[in-house]
Amino acid sequence: MLEWNLMRIAVFVPLVVAAGLVACAPTPVAKKEAPKVTKTSFGKTADGTEVSLFTLKNSKGMEAAVTNYGGIVVSLKTPDKTGAIGDIVLGFDSLDGYLKEHPYLGAIVGRYGNRIGGAKFSIGGKQYKLAVNNGPNSLHGGLRGFDKKVWDATTNDATNSLILKCSSADMEEGYPGKLDAEVTYTLTEANELRINYKAATDKETVLNLTNHTYFNLAGQGNGDILNHSIQIMSERTTPVDATLIPTGELKQVAGTPFDFTAPHKIGERINDPKDEQIKFGGGYDHNFVVDGQPGTLRPAARVTEPASGRAMEVLTTEPGIQFYTGNFLDGALTGKGGKVYQKRYGFCLETQHFPDSPNKPQFPTTALKPGETYNSTTVFRFSVAQ
Ligand code: GLA
Repeated sequence: MLEWNLMRIAVFVPLVVAAGLVACAPTPVAKKEAPKVTKTSFGKTADGTEVSLFTLKNSKGMEAAVTNYGGIVVSLKTPDKTGAIGDIVLGFDSLDGYLKEHPYLGAIVGRYGNRIGGAKFSIGGKQYKLAVNNGPNSLHGGLRGFDKKVWDATTNDATNSLILKCSSADMEEGYPGKLDAEVTYTLTEANELRINYKAATDKETVLNLTNHTYFNLAGQGNGDILNHSIQIMSERTTPVDATLIPTGELKQVAGTPFDFTAPHKIGERINDPKDEQIKFGGGYDHNFVVDGQPGTLRPAARVTEPASGRAMEVLTTEPGIQFYTGNFLDGALTGKGGKVYQKRYGFCLETQHFPDSPNKPQFPTTALKPGETYNSTTVFRFSVAQ
């Protein structure tokens, strides 16, 4: 009996104390959960490989959806000056759109973003031949570049990141060395989409990774980009020949339609009949030498769109940036929400090493040797102009 009573006390007393503590405890405040990276199915490739769509969100209402097919940025939603959220990148509603031929919408481009002249280069006296897929040149990694790979994906909720990895076999698309690449997309609370590229090789090779997103700050499909203003932090470009291969010269922008050291409307000089470079590109399709020290993250461009009030800054560690004004878009593509992408409905700012660097020893090198780590960062930062 005594034992029984003692046991009752032993159970009852702590219960009363606990209940009292609960009653006295302040009402719990709902803890603000850090946004989680979500994953949904995005379909299957022709050979049945499952592809996913990952959505990164921040507490400011910004959202980036990226698929592990080609590392493609499928949508990027940012607020305009009224606070309304809009999608500002060109793309397709489903994987099927991306499986057809398309001009690299949103994709990670590799192994070599941009052109290699004559589709060949040499390392240590040995010549390597690439796919000829752009006039006489090789463009954007060849026939099946990184934009068409299904990447291995992991997510990190703590950093709000998507980590994509792929391996490219020795001599894939003609490039030497087994290459392991890693691309990390991070959405920050400062409304930045950060892209970090890392890679390593087991034989000397060349590498130039970039992202090929087409932006329209007025909203995807909402007209051309000619009324956007752009400033490019660049005193020099790498002028090109008629096939868009750099001549090797670095040319001052002063006094040319390439002078964006102060902001100009994209449309202001885009059809300048007197400028041969504009003629070759059919508008802007040129590499600008970003001012400052390559390897350090520094401002490369700033774009604003008056109607929406949206502003985008681009920062990069790369030596160059390709400003491409969607000159080859021609209304043949129907994108998200049934929007038809006409000429100049989007612009790209592809941070990169200069085109044809493997054949231009005077340009910053794109060589990657065993034991070295390729490391490159680009930030797209969004805000609304006051
Ligand atoms: C890059 C090139 C352009 C064009 C597009 C894709 O930006 O510089 O000439 O090939 O890709 O259409």
